[in-house]
Amino acid sequence: MSIGSGIPGLGVEVARVPEAVRRRVDAWAREGLTVALVPTMGALHEGHRTLIRAARSGADRVVVSIFVNPRQFAPNEDLATYPRTEIEDLAALTDEGADLAWVPAPDVVYPPGFETTVRAGSLGEPLEGLHRPGFFDGVATVVAKLFALVRPHRAYFGEKDYQQLLVVARMAVDLDLGVQVVPVPTVREADGLAMSSRNVLLSAADRAVAPVLHRTLSRMAARLADGASEPAAEIAWGREKLLAAGFSAVDYLEVRDPRTLAPVARAGVAARILAAVRLGPVRLIDNLPVG
Ligand code: PAF
Repeated sequence: MSIGSGIPGLGVEVARVPEAVRRRVDAWAREGLTVALVPTMGALHEGHRTLIRAARSGADRVVVSIFVNPRQFAPNEDLATYPRTEIEDLAALTDEGADLAWVPAPDVVYPPGFETTVRAGSLGEPLEGLHRPGFFDGVATVVAKLFALVRPHRAYFGEKDYQQLLVVARMAVDLDLGVQVVPVPTVREADGLAMSSRNVLLSAADRAVAPVLHRTLSRMAARLADGASEPAAEIAWGREKLLAAGFSAVDYLEVRDPRTLAPVARAGVAARILAAVRLGPVRLIDNLPVG
């Protein structure tokens, strides 16, 4: 079944069953068209729109998936409260000129009897992997399914989820999926806060504190880049700064190798600073390159 959204003014074609996606991408393949995929969990914001624009400039046709993937949420996490804004999302896709929205229900993606899990390797173990066990297996599994169904030439992922980007790029190579994973720089609010669907859950008071995360990472990155300080000292400084600003916890604040995510012990080498912090009910992540 391939249906329009059925909502006046929303022109993007919406597929809710795999056959509808297959039929559309088969037709594009027969025409020799290239296809880009932008995987999302909906609640679309300017960061997603940027991914879609990049996808449009990199391929003839753009598929955007909207699926809040239950397999990447632990039982204590925010699956139930994750923002869901399907009508606004379809309007945004229409606006951005996406060609197909893949909007499956959970039991379409994981029907009864579903058994298979793609296990993320060592790139998925540290950082988010330590704090969210099973998260990257959930991501790798759903992204593998998306790649298998849509068979895109390219897939676009934001650098905000830097570790996810590395895990997915590795998986695409390891499983010979033939998909080029394209990183897209983080889109930020004017005050530096990285755009995220979860930002709407911040109270006004927490929203005022949130940009301190980016400011702290920027200061650390600048000092590491000019060799003024070593990673351990910067991490200690950054933790203190974040806690003093009002973040209730720092899950991690690390300086890591940008390709392997191994710890970096000295300044003056390629590195990425990655952080996850808690603010009220919201967990924020962000990262910046050094230099
Ligand atoms: O980054 C996200 O929104 C999700 O992790 C993704 C890649 C859509 C998989 O569910």
